[in-house]
Amino acid sequence: MNVLVCGGAGYIGSHAVRELMKAGHRAVVLDNLSRGHRGAVGDAIFIEGDIADRDLLAGLIRREGIEACMHFAAHSLVGESVGRPDTYYFNNVVKGLALLDACVKAGVRCFVFSSTAAVYGDPVEVPIKEDHPTVPANPYGATKLAFEGALRWYGGAFGLKYASLRYFNAAGADPAGDIGEDHDPETHLIPLVLKAASGKLPGISVFGNDYPTPDGTCIRDYIHVTDLARAHLLALEYLRSGMPSDCFNLGNGSGYSVLEVIKTAEEVTGRSIEVKFSARRPGDPAVLVAGAGKAREALGWRPQFDDLRTIIETAWAWHRDHPDGFGGRNA
Ligand code: UFG
Repeated sequence: MNVLVCGGAGYIGSHAVRELMKAGHRAVVLDNLSRGHRGAVGDAIFIEGDIADRDLLAGLIRREGIEACMHFAAHSLVGESVGRPDTYYFNNVVKGLALLDACVKAGVRCFVFSSTAAVYGDPVEVPIKEDHPTVPANPYGATKLAFEGALRWYGGAFGLKYASLRYFNAAGADPAGDIGEDHDPETHLIPLVLKAASGKLPGISVFGNDYPTPDGTCIRDYIHVTDLARAHLLALEYLRSGMPSDCFNLGNGSGYSVLEVIKTAEEVTGRSIEVKFSARRPGDPAVLVAGAGKAREALGWRPQFDDLRTIIETAWAWHRDHPDGFGGRNA
């Protein structure tokens, strides 16, 4: 299948490209390299460009015979989104709609969307199932939810089939060790902890130890990036087999606290990590754990790297061997 992967040079997108190629699909990556890395794309066809460039999209969909689209091209930092809702609405909604229009006009029938647990906001019930109320607590989640809404209406009007995949905490790296997480700035817990383990940072600040959890720190559901990537392929097959458009949570269904993550990282790396407790980070819910039964039942999804230690081992292999990531923003 010829699959357009928008944002395929980013962290999750590049892992999806890898899985698509392994499964014998043809991946055509479109990425403007504003946050992605050329080096993450591997042997896939790469086009540097923007998802809002309608002429470019029309030409490439026709030329490459694109049959399906996976859309990862978005800004995804919760904290940044609070200060810059304008940028987030522009990138994640306005530009995303240009891509959606181009797909619909060119007759692309299947669309897999990179959504987030941030669409739920502060959970009223854990584990969080797909029918949990969606009340985003930040612009990032709001923009992803807005795009999910567009998909629903476009689907009804234009016959587009879509799957919105709501990720919990993506982590880890491809087991081959040659692609992984490389953000600038980095804000996520596991890469920061591993940078501390490798001496690139003096230690880690734990944001709050007074949450109503057993050790007082936040609990998250960490899901391996390769398992996320495989769910995208399953979602494509699901849509192509005529099943109805839907949204799916992607998580392991088990939570680990910030301190458990740090302890496991110390065991994996064999190094001690200096911990400082600081104030809570605004907008962090105490516990986010997925009810991910729907993806297992409907897509047949079975995460392979479902324990925290394995997730951190793969992340560590990447960070240890690539201390500078891909070697710069556009590398
Ligand atoms: N944390 C620290 N110190 C740090 C960084 C993070 O203590 O230096 C804590 C956070 O407070 C949080 C946990 O580690 O409790 C995980 O934080 P991340 O930044 O790694 O991930 P988030 O849980 O904030 O983000 C995830 C997804 C987003 C999604 C969000 C929903 O990455 O896409 O959950 O709340 F929007």
